Amino acid sequence: MRILVIGGGGREHAIVWALKKSEKVSELYCAPGNAGIAQLAECVPIQVGQFEELIQFSVDHAIDLVVVGPDDPLADGIVDAFEAKQIPIFGPRKNAAEIEGSKIFMKDLLKKYAIPTAKYETFTDYEAAKSYLSAQQTPIVIKADGLAAGKGVTVAYSMEEAQQALADMMVNKVFGQSGDQVVIEEFLEGQEMSILAFVDGETVRPMVPAQDHKPVFDGDKGPNTGGMGTYTPLPHIPQAIIDDAIENIIKPTAKAMVSEGRPFRGVLFAGLMITKDGAKTIEFNARMGDPETQVVLPRLKTDLVDIILAALNGRLDQLDIEWSDEAATCVILASEGYPASYPKGRAISGLEEAAALEGVLIFHAGTAASDGQIVTNGGRVLGVVGVGKDTEASRERAYEAAKKIHFDGVHYRSDIALKALQGLAQS
Ligand code: AMP
Ligand code: GLY
Repeated sequence: MRILVIGGGGREHAIVWALKKSEKVSELYCAPGNAGIAQLAECVPIQVGQFEELIQFSVDHAIDLVVVGPDDPLADGIVDAFEAKQIPIFGPRKNAAEIEGSKIFMKDLLKKYAIPTAKYETFTDYEAAKSYLSAQQTPIVIKADGLAAGKGVTVAYSMEEAQQALADMMVNKVFGQSGDQVVIEEFLEGQEMSILAFVDGETVRPMVPAQDHKPVFDGDKGPNTGGMGTYTPLPHIPQAIIDDAIENIIKPTAKAMVSEGRPFRGVLFAGLMITKDGAKTIEFNARMGDPETQVVLPRLKTDLVDIILAALNGRLDQLDIEWSDEAATCVILASEGYPASYPKGRAISGLEEAAALEGVLIFHAGTAASDGQIVTNGGRVLGVVGVGKDTEASRERAYEAAKKIHFDGVHYRSDIALKALQGLAQS
């Protein structure tokens, strides 16, 4: 098969890596890819929003299957565009991707079908939002309705901070149109968990759960990022809680989407908070997580191509999907200044030495090749993954490898997966 992967981050590097292992794959392309992906696939200089060019490339190269990584093209209807040309593509159509593209759509859907989520109100009028907010307790959560590169959410611990976030979204338009509508919602207290699932209509095949670390600094301090590190499994979280989330949140949501005439086909990603009243939904994404994918796919034993084909052919319910018992930890190496503005083009050293370590995988997120040298080209630069027999072993491998890599201004969290080890020590 000739496969085209769309995207160019760490998630797409992990997807390309998993597809490359399949005996069914003869040619692998990635648009636009990055310097790490280029070692496994042919990178094509087409951006993810250039649907016409991507379709033309697929026709010219007789592509048999397209796999979409990021959220933006899905929200803009890339799947519909390829389907109109009869090119097989894995991902939700535009009307199903709205579960991520509009927080209000998602919240209203969950409310209608009584699926657990935080209590909320939505607003299009700034004055109304402002006066509602002033009557609430803190902490409270303010969210821009639309996509905002993972940064449209403020968890405000003071009323002042909450009002500022609201004004930034609705008046100062820091997220553009994404802030025309906002959600003000109840603060949920607990541990977060990400469950991704292969979904085709009402068929839900969950992947192994993972935990992300969104704030930029150790101890969950500082502003939110796209994700600074992940690990799987979650040894400190009882299986009953994971099963409850699958049965009472993910499966009913897939079913609700079918009832709404928006059947979801692709990867549905539930961001969940484990509260004292059970798991509640924080968000749904219409794609694989970044950097969740970098730890989940290394544990997948079944051929990813077989899973995707089963989903496209309505046979997902019949496939046996196997996962390894190993643990994986991913540490994100970020550019100086990230998640605010950051420089690009800084030389990266130590990549080969790190990759040569046992149980280590390096997934490139924001890198480019320049004069035969790999340089930084994004905020999140690399995902350094350790795979081992348990969380502790995988974590040690990831950090050992991270220490060998250098670029000016590099920073990363030193406490990825520590919650699991501390949680185990307590129980
Ligand atoms: P999102 O972009 O929806 O994933 O939100 C970003 C982060 O904000 C989440 O990963 C949570 O850490 C936090 N968050 C969002 N909604 C809530 C909530 N209702 N209660 C507590 N934390 C939240
Ligand atoms: N890691 C969170 C996300 O992909 O949205």
